Amino acid sequence: MAAIEEEEMGSSCSWRIRGVTELLLRGLLLCALAAGSGWCNSVERKIYIPLNRTATCVRLMNATHQIGCQSSMNGDTGVIHVVEKQEDVQWVLSDGPHPPYIVLLDGELFTRGMMDQLKESPRISGVAVAIAKPRPVKGFSPGSRCPNDGFGVYNSTYGPQYAHCNNMEWNPLGNGLFYEDFSFPIFLLQDENETEVIKQCYQTYNFPHNGSVPQYPLCAMQLFSHMHAVTSTVTCMRRTSLQSTFSINPEVICDPLSDYNVWSTLKPINVSTNLNSTEKVIMVATRIDSHSMFWNVAPGAESAVASFVTHLAAAEAIHKAPDIQTLPKNIMFTFFQGESFDYIGSSRMAYDMQKNKFPIRLENIDCFLELGQIALTNSSVLWMHTDPVSQKSLSVEVTNLFSRCSTSGTGVEVQEIGSTQALPPSSFQRFLKLKEIPGVVLADHKTSFQNNYVTETAESLAEVATVVARALYQLAGGSGNASAIQADPRTVTRMLYGFLVRTNNSWFQSIIKPDLKGILENEPPPYYIAVSKPVNATYLVHYVLANLTGAVTNLTKEQCLNSDGDLYEYAWVQGPQDPNSTTSSRLPFCVRSTVRLTSASSPAFELQDWGSTQYSTWTESRWKELHARIFLVASRQLEIITLVVGIVILIISFVATYFINAKADVLFTTPRDSGAVAY
Ligand SMILES: *[C@@H]1O[C@H](CO)[C@@H](O)[C@H](O)[C@H]1NC(C)=O
Ligand SMILES: *[C@@H]1O[C@H](CO)[C@@H](O)[C@H](O)[C@H]1NC(C)=O
Ligand SMILES: *[C@@H]1O[C@H](CO)[C@@H](O)[C@H](O)[C@H]1NC(C)=O
Ligand SMILES: *[C@@H]1O[C@H](CO)[C@@H](O)[C@H](O)[C@H]1NC(C)=O
Ligand SMILES: *[C@@H]1O[C@H](CO)[C@@H](O)[C@H](O)[C@H]1NC(C)=O
Ligand SMILES: *[C@@H]1O[C@H](CO)[C@@H](O)[C@H](O)[C@H]1NC(C)=O
Ligand SMILES: *[C@@H]1O[C@H](CO)[C@@H](O)[C@H](O)[C@H]1NC(C)=O
Ligand SMILES: *[C@@H]1O[C@H](CO)[C@@H](O)[C@H](O)[C@H]1NC(C)=O
Ligand SMILES: *[C@@H]1O[C@H](CO)[C@@H](O)[C@H](O)[C@H]1NC(C)=O
Ligand SMILES: *[C@@H]1O[C@H](CO)[C@@H](O)[C@H](O)[C@H]1NC(C)=O
Repeated sequence: MAAIEEEEMGSSCSWRIRGVTELLLRGLLLCALAAGSGWCNSVERKIYIPLNRTATCVRLMNATHQIGCQSSMNGDTGVIHVVEKQEDVQWVLSDGPHPPYIVLLDGELFTRGMMDQLKESPRISGVAVAIAKPRPVKGFSPGSRCPNDGFGVYNSTYGPQYAHCNNMEWNPLGNGLFYEDFSFPIFLLQDENETEVIKQCYQTYNFPHNGSVPQYPLCAMQLFSHMHAVTSTVTCMRRTSLQSTFSINPEVICDPLSDYNVWSTLKPINVSTNLNSTEKVIMVATRIDSHSMFWNVAPGAESAVASFVTHLAAAEAIHKAPDIQTLPKNIMFTFFQGESFDYIGSSRMAYDMQKNKFPIRLENIDCFLELGQIALTNSSVLWMHTDPVSQKSLSVEVTNLFSRCSTSGTGVEVQEIGSTQALPPSSFQRFLKLKEIPGVVLADHKTSFQNNYVTETAESLAEVATVVARALYQLAGGSGNASAIQADPRTVTRMLYGFLVRTNNSWFQSIIKPDLKGILENEPPPYYIAVSKPVNATYLVHYVLANLTGAVTNLTKEQCLNSDGDLYEYAWVQGPQDPNSTTSSRLPFCVRSTVRLTSASSPAFELQDWGSTQYSTWTESRWKELHARIFLVASRQLEIITLVVGIVILIISFVATYFINAKADVLFTTPRDSGAVAY
């Protein structure tokens, strides 16, 4: 941009007289340029540097509220101020002479207290948060202290003494930032090098050296995250549905959060029909997704990954047992999506089961085992949570379940929680709401969630998986030697690497369909629920589960693609690299498994009950653009001068055009020369 302007200025020195208008305009332009060298400088340097690795806080809505962030239509601009310690914030809140400011906040300071301060101030036009590395020692959770409150099983009629986390705050670290409604944009800077570029610009132009006031030009940032939807899901869905009734080309302004649950069964079942009510199924469940302030990133996903990796390892272990096809009871492995948003996945599956829209019905469920938060630590105590209300009537079954799990001990110690404590927030609650099913939630926390970091823990997760697999085997009526069932720590290691470090690894490459190879990247996938399509994490869980529990068949590609049936699903996967080939050709094969996807979209939208208090109503606003950039701004006075000069030039050119038009016959009596044509 600078280069172009300079060229124009250069050519203006060698202008030729071509007519009255040009003379007039060029003269004016030159005058304007001469107005001040500082101004010329700022025009020249007004170069935008886009920020390429950012994540954005977007707007979400439920039945009654809007949460999240947004910018104005044309983006919000502010002078950058870096806040690295608590005291720095004074400058933006009161001392700094150039509001509005965009605060570049150190990840460590991204706390409730700080954000409340910024939210109050009219001098703030946006916040950019530098990602905290390593993650804060104290842990960070933008969720609420009582997750999914109001959507679990406890309410005024069912265990009222446990409702609203009455006797237990499950997530004491939760600062609730996620549920706040901010009137300014908030961006996450994911790349330290980009953050460094911004800090450099700040140091050079904005830093108040020796307490002196920095002079223009100043380094500024502009954040674009304008959101189309406002107020609530009820409002935006009503508007959307009205539009689709009356308009051929409806403008959708919000979409329900939805994705797919992944499930499979140990023994194949006919999915075209309902399971016979005498058949019993043990349901194992974990969630895939986790919460995040920022769209399409979920930096705190380690605990969700640890739980579903344990679940996958247990599924693999039990599939290796010899007599599984003759077990009296079946086992269903279930991975829920959208649980962070008032139990989207589990509420949909429970609803489908209740309405006979799922091959397995509620009465088929013999018992329920959920893997809650299993953090990546070496702690070897697992706690079993049960529902104190239904336990009174189902105590025999629940105790039975306890004794089975506890006796299958390995290095892991399984301990019972006193029966006075409620269930933690869990998918199980959505099933318990509909039917009294005996069940437990296994977690490594006795009282409240722990947010920990990745350590070398494949061994300990494999031990947990072993305990789970043995308990399942016995619950399903297995009479063989349960202690032969053993989860493989190498599989756990490979999964942790794939799900937490890099999805583009040779194992994941070999187990997915060729048309999905584009989802593999040199980083972990986001664990954030999307709108109406399987997110990459869902696909990966699907194909890992198929690899661990399926069988390689000798079908050809054509046979494979046409084999999907009532009992099995077939996938033509990429396969490993051909070791003999010099080119990077692969040896594809056909995998047969019982793994399937099923909708994880809240029944509230199925029922068009957008104000539902029973089912999740979360929707995401649509937007046109999400991006951020930095540049140098001139002072307000200079911008006004620019504008005024521009307007004056415009007026004069109108007058000149009118004059030329009126006198055209006088001015253009001779034919035009070639120079004018070229110009
Ligand atoms: C919607 O979210 C807000 C903010 O978290 C909450 O206060 C409100 O109770 C929720 N409404 C419903 C119907 O769940
Ligand atoms: C940042 O820059 C350094 C040196 O140029 C490079 O080694 C590093 O990989 C970069 N980091 C990221 C996250 O791009
Ligand atoms: C983003 O990418 C563009 C084009 O590759 C580059 O010019 C710019 O410097 C990058 N931004 C930052 C902050 O590095
Ligand atoms: C700040 O003040 C000190 C002493 O008053 C002086 O030596 C130094 O050069 C000043 N720095 C700047 C950037 O003005
Ligand atoms: C599955 O059930 C459907 C409907 O009852 C039936 O037509 C089909 O033959 C069954 N498939 C298998 C493999 O048993
Ligand atoms: C899946 O990954 C690809 C490649 O990284 C990315 O372009 C795409 O947006 C991702 N899809 C979703 C739904 O996140
Ligand atoms: C993934 O790895 C393969 C080689 O193993 C490479 O060819 C491909 O470009 C990589 N994909 C991405 C997105 O980095
Ligand atoms: C699973 O992946 C491994 C390693 O790529 C492969 O050897 C095995 O055959 C796969 N199994 C299935 C059932 O896809
Ligand atoms: C696949 O294997 C089965 C036995 O497991 C055999 O009967 C069948 O002929 C084989 N099919 C092909 C195409 O090789
Ligand atoms: C690779 O070559 C060896 C020796 O030529 C042969 O035995 C083997 O079957 C080949 N493997 C594949 C996958 O083609």
